[in-house]
Amino acid sequence: MPTQNSRSSSVGIEAGHDSSAADMEDIRRQIEERLSQALPDHGRADPLTGAMRAAALGTGKRMRPLLLMVVARDLGCTSPALLDAACAVELVHAASLILDDLPCMDDAKLRRGLPTVHRQFGEHVAILASVALLSRAFQLLSQAPGIPAHVRTRLVGALADTVGAQGLVRGQFLDLHGNPQRSLDDIARTNELKTGVLLGLSVEMAALIAEADERVLQALRAFALSAGQAFQIKDDLLDDADAAITGKDAGQDAGKATFNATLGRERTAGRLADHLREADTYLSDAIGGKQGTRSLVGTLFRNASPLAAARAS
Ligand code: IPE
Ligand code: IPE
Ligand code: MG
Ligand code: MG
Ligand code: MG
Repeated sequence: MPTQNSRSSSVGIEAGHDSSAADMEDIRRQIEERLSQALPDHGRADPLTGAMRAAALGTGKRMRPLLLMVVARDLGCTSPALLDAACAVELVHAASLILDDLPCMDDAKLRRGLPTVHRQFGEHVAILASVALLSRAFQLLSQAPGIPAHVRTRLVGALADTVGAQGLVRGQFLDLHGNPQRSLDDIARTNELKTGVLLGLSVEMAALIAEADERVLQALRAFALSAGQAFQIKDDLLDDADAAITGKDAGQDAGKATFNATLGRERTAGRLADHLREADTYLSDAIGGKQGTRSLVGTLFRNASPLAAARAS
């Protein structure tokens, strides 16, 4: 059953100047091989490592590690550290999805077309696997090859800031505790923290490893935060789409303050388009006419306009 997360439909770069679909598939393969190597495999004998692998190696789009790798390439960087940094970001993402799906959070039953990790392995194993994935992310970064100490220090600091109480954790807290009548600014702030900051981290890591100047780093972060707003809006617009499209339970956002709930679909889709335009402007500031990152973003947002997909459901 095809889902939004199946490889063929969701990612695969547009044929562009710098990034052919084959290139992107190759980068994805490298990411997935490294992710698999980075996680212990004891088969059915060990549910904890089984849960870690199930969370990290399922059929995700790999948007964040791809973004890190492609931005670095647009910056002319080929450091061997990139792959481990990219995997560290993906492990954090996988850890955040485990927690997001728990009964005490979104209480999700399906993720990537399969039962959620806590439904496969139990809640206690799911929570422990999430903590272990976060820890493995820091470990990967601390051991990534070929980076000077001052860069490694900034990378580890950026990862900690992104996960912590002013990052993803705060975003998830606000999402769960926010007033359903929240202002548009509050919704945007929640979306930035629960989703945007991890895209921000991906491009920041690419810029730090490339030793790009501060102006480029800031422009890339602004690009990623705009793209993050667009991405969360797209996800929210697909909330009532069929599980066959999204691989997730429909209607998870009931009772939550989203742009979709507050503004309706048409105006929310307008906001999405505005954020994508804004993202493209920041991207031009950062990397000029390079096409790799632009092409990846185009592909992520091209598959079925969210409005069309939501209507079709
Ligand atoms: C899901 O992220 C969580 C959101 C930020 C909406 P993705 O849509 O990137 O999830 P996978 O990794 O492709 O399954
Ligand atoms: C996205 O929130 C942010 C995180 C998962 C951390 P959602 O709750 O909308 O993500 P999905 O829809 O479950 O993937
Ligand atoms: Mg959530
Ligand atoms: Mg959720
Ligand atoms: Mg969602």
